[in-house]
Amino acid sequence: MAKPQMTTTGGNPIADNQNSISAGPRGPLLLQDYQLIEKLAHQNRERIPERVVHAKGSGAFGTLTITHDVTKYTKAGIFSEVGKKTDMLLRFSTVAGERGAADAERDVRGWALKFYTEEGNWDLVGNNTPVFFVRDPLKFPDFIHTQKRHPRTNMRSAIAMWDFWSLSPESLHQVTILMSDRGLPLSYRHTNGYGSHTYSFINAKNERFWVKFHFKTQQGIRTMTNAEGEAVIAKDRESSQRDLYEEIEKGNFPKWKMQIQIMNEEDAEKCPFNPFDLTKVWPHADYPVIDVGILELNRNPENYFQEIEQSAFSPSNIVPGISFSPDKMLQARIFSYADAHRYRVGTWYEALPVNRPKSAVNTYHMDGSMNFMEPKSSNAYYEPNTMGGPAQDDRFAEPPLKISGDADRWNHRDGNDDYTQPGNLFRLMSDSQQQQLFSNIAEAMQGVPREIVDRQLGHFHKADPAYAAGVAKALKVEWEASGAYPNEPALA
Ligand code: NDP
Ligand code: HEM
Repeated sequence: MAKPQMTTTGGNPIADNQNSISAGPRGPLLLQDYQLIEKLAHQNRERIPERVVHAKGSGAFGTLTITHDVTKYTKAGIFSEVGKKTDMLLRFSTVAGERGAADAERDVRGWALKFYTEEGNWDLVGNNTPVFFVRDPLKFPDFIHTQKRHPRTNMRSAIAMWDFWSLSPESLHQVTILMSDRGLPLSYRHTNGYGSHTYSFINAKNERFWVKFHFKTQQGIRTMTNAEGEAVIAKDRESSQRDLYEEIEKGNFPKWKMQIQIMNEEDAEKCPFNPFDLTKVWPHADYPVIDVGILELNRNPENYFQEIEQSAFSPSNIVPGISFSPDKMLQARIFSYADAHRYRVGTWYEALPVNRPKSAVNTYHMDGSMNFMEPKSSNAYYEPNTMGGPAQDDRFAEPPLKISGDADRWNHRDGNDDYTQPGNLFRLMSDSQQQQLFSNIAEAMQGVPREIVDRQLGHFHKADPAYAAGVAKALKVEWEASGAYPNEPALA
C-alpha cells in the first residue's frame, strides 16, 4: 500500500527522517536543517498548562436520551420531548493531583458535562458529591492551596488540610463524604454525578423554578478501602482511565439515570436553610427526585489531547430554559472558568472541534491570536447595523431575578447550621460505613497537631457525639467535648 508522503508543517516533502544534516559524518550540524529545528521547536510546545485543579482526568462521548416529560418546568430544547437525544461529552477527574497523578486516590471526582444542544452548548460542571467544601468563593483559592503542595516541602500537607477544615465548619458535610466509603470510588463508572449548585429552570410561560441535577450510576456505587486503593496504585496509576476506556471499547456502555429536584420560587423563601448554599442538599423527602432521562457513554475520544485535554467546560454556558441562581459559588464560577480557558487553551478555545457548538455561532468578536475560523467577512462587523448582521431576540429574555438587601461583606457563617446535614449523613451510614469513616479520618490525620485535631473533633461532636467518639477512638486519643471551639472558627 502506498504510504502518504511525509512533509514539514509547511507541506514540503521530507526525504530523510532518520539523519540530520551534518558537516561530515561526525557533525557539527547545519543551521539550514529546518526539518530538525521544526521538530525540536514543535516538541517544546507539546504541553499546555494543566488545569489549575482537576488536572488528571478521563473523558468519553455519549448521548442523553429524555425518558420523562419535564416541559412544565423548562423550555430548554434538550428536554423538549420524550425520546429526544442530545450528543454530549463527559470528563471525569480527580481534584488535587497533577496530570500524571494516580487515579485510585481518595479525592472528590469531577463530573464535567457538555451537552451539544440546538441552542448552543450547555455545560454542567459538577462533582460526584452534592455539596462542596466552602460556600463563599473568596475561600476557594485558600482551600485549593491546602490540597496542593506545600511551598517548601513540595509535599501535600495533612496539617494544612485539617487546619483549614477545622477553621471552616462549612466544610464538614463535604469532608464527611470525602472520608466516607464513597471518597475512594472503584472507578468513574461507579460514581453518581451531581450538578451540586441550585440552578434555574424557566418554562415556556417564563416562570422560574429552582432545580438541582443528579446522575445516578446504573453500574452501582462501588468503592475501595484505603488498602485496596494503595494496592491498585502500586500496579496501575491509570485504573479509572483504563476501566472507562476498556469498558467502552468492549461495548459495555456505562449509563446513569438523570434526575432533578424542583423547588418553587415561593418555597425558597420559606426553606429553613438557604437553598442556594452549596454546603447543603435538598432532603429527598421534601424535594423528591424526578426522573428525566438516561445518560450513556458510548464513544472513546479519537485523540486524548485534542478532545479531552483541550476540552473546556464552563458553568457560564447555559441555554434558554436553564439559568443561574444566587449561589455565590456559582456566580464566581461563571467568571472563573472561561478566564481559565483563555489562559490554558487560548482566546479561540471555543472554536476547537471538541468545544465548538453544533448549532450556529454568530458573534461580533474579531481577530485575536490563532483565529483559525473559516475565513469570512461581512459589512456587518459591528452592531447595531443595517447590513443584515445577526441580531438579538427578546424571546430569549429571562424573567427578572428577584434580589434584595444591602451590599456588604455578609458573614456567611452567621446563623448557618453546618452540623445537621453532616449528622444526617453520618446517621444513615451502616455500622461498617461508620467504622470506615472513623479509620479513614484517623489515617488522614496522622501527624496533625493535637490542637487542630481537637478543634475538628469538636465539629464531629456537633454533627453527632458518636461521630467524634468514633474518630477519637480510631485516633487512640482521650477526648471530651468542651464546647469551647465547635461553633466559632478561630478566625471569625
Ligand atoms: P435520603 O435517605 O433520602 O438520601 C440519602 C442519600 O445519601 C442517597 O442519595 C444516597 O445515595 C446518599 N448516600 C449514602 N451514603 C453516602 C455517602 N457515604 N456519601 C454520600 N452520599 C451518600 O436522605 P436525605 O435526602 O434526607 O439526605 C440525608 C443525607 O444524605 C444528606 O445530609 C446528604 O449528606 C446525603 N445525600 C443527600 C442527597 C440529596 O440530594 N438529598 C444526595 C446525596 C447525598 P444513593 O441513593 O446513591 O445510595
Ligand atoms: C475545574 C475554578 C468550584 C468542579 C476548574 C478550573 C478552575 C476552577 C479555574 C480549571 C478549568 C480549566 O482549566 O479548564 C473553580 C472556582 C470555584 C470552583 C473558582 C469556586 C468558586 C467548583 C465546584 C465544582 C467544581 C463547586 C463542582 C460542583 C470542577 C470540575 C472541573 C473544575 C469538574 C474540571 C472540569 C474539566 O473536566 O475540564 N475549577 N472551581 N468546581 N471544577 Fe472548579
